[in-house]
Amino acid sequence: MKKTFFLLIALLITQLIFAQQFVPNYDESKVPKFVVPDPLVTFNQKKVKNVKDWEKKRRPELLKIFTQNMFGEIPGDLKILSVEILEQSENAYNGKAKRKQVLLHFEKNGKKLGFTILLYLPKNVEKAPLFLGYNFYGNHTVANDADIIISDAWVENNPSFGIINNQLTEQSRGVRSNRWAIEKMLESGIGLATIYYGEVDPDKNDFTDGIHPLFYTDDQKHPAKNEWGSIAAWSWGLSRAMDYLVTDSDVDVSKVIVFGHSRLGKTSLWAGATDQRFAAVISNNSGCGGAALSKRKFGETVGRINTAFPHWFCDNFKNYNNKEELMPFDQHEMLALIAPRPLYVASAEDDQWADPKGELLGAYYATPVFNLYGKKGITITELPPVNQPILNTLAYHIRTGKHDVTEYDWEQYIKWAKEQLNIE
Ligand code: GCU
Repeated sequence: MKKTFFLLIALLITQLIFAQQFVPNYDESKVPKFVVPDPLVTFNQKKVKNVKDWEKKRRPELLKIFTQNMFGEIPGDLKILSVEILEQSENAYNGKAKRKQVLLHFEKNGKKLGFTILLYLPKNVEKAPLFLGYNFYGNHTVANDADIIISDAWVENNPSFGIINNQLTEQSRGVRSNRWAIEKMLESGIGLATIYYGEVDPDKNDFTDGIHPLFYTDDQKHPAKNEWGSIAAWSWGLSRAMDYLVTDSDVDVSKVIVFGHSRLGKTSLWAGATDQRFAAVISNNSGCGGAALSKRKFGETVGRINTAFPHWFCDNFKNYNNKEELMPFDQHEMLALIAPRPLYVASAEDDQWADPKGELLGAYYATPVFNLYGKKGITITELPPVNQPILNTLAYHIRTGKHDVTEYDWEQYIKWAKEQLNIE
């Protein structure tokens, strides 16, 4: 009895400390003064003067520091074991698209994993450019299409989508069609490839499922401190999807645009940074750990994200909980890793948790690297008016509304992608 009482008090105190520590700041005047690391100066204080210096010295050292201190190393190689076409149709999406559902099989150390790519390809295009992005609740949620196979992978419950017992059902078919402007993509001659992210790694603090265990040795239960969290695992999945896409003769592999919203926007950025086969990258409301500068400590912070989602980054990233000022890097340098490929950073006005200004500044401070290649980026440090996109190679917009992916966002992405990648 006494023991339970003390345990309860201890729990209460911990919660109180936690609550106090993580009161988010939304007041610009309370943003601490901070030094933005110069993407064009190496850790040895050498100035990066040209593309060669960037590609040979600075880019690799930045990639390394993000890998070891934030997203985590992938502990080995794993290629697709086999490709299974589960279903295909020449006449999908009201006759506007070809559809394919392709299951990729993996196996390592006697353990197996598979994930399914749903593809919609515009019918009138011989080799289609593609948006490639994960969805949150299963492939069958992205369109009202009775032929999309329902995943049996673990899913977060969401009663409003009829998801209980962590299982997907018929009830959630099409519930996220509002987030995927498939019709508009197809009309613009661009296809969509999407994957349910939970098939690669279920989004929970449990490293015994998903892709991680395939790489474990002996009785290992958790990746090492410098090894991959879930975001690196999801971005690994995007690269494996790309391994398949390069073999699909219906796809223009030189025009695959990796897209993601929120945690999956952090993922698309990391995928773009680590895999240069992605021709362009879109980060929709990616916020903390995505496009937003961590050192601003505005909205979500490093300590908060690592506490609420301890499995997203590698354990080393926790060294910077409430110590953002000690970080020798910041998110603008992750954006710079994508240069000179087109990169779109998008914010939403009511999404202060993701720090729109921090996302803009991420793009602003990444711009010198894009300039090194003669590409245009972001030259303003104050937010532009809402719904007035800046469509440079490094593009930015802040739209009205909440944390979401809207028709408006897709209209900009499509227009920009067509311009940047010369899509007819
Ligand atoms: C939470 C989290 C964010 C994340 C978001 C999402 O709000 O704190 O970092 O981007 O979930 O993925 O929807």
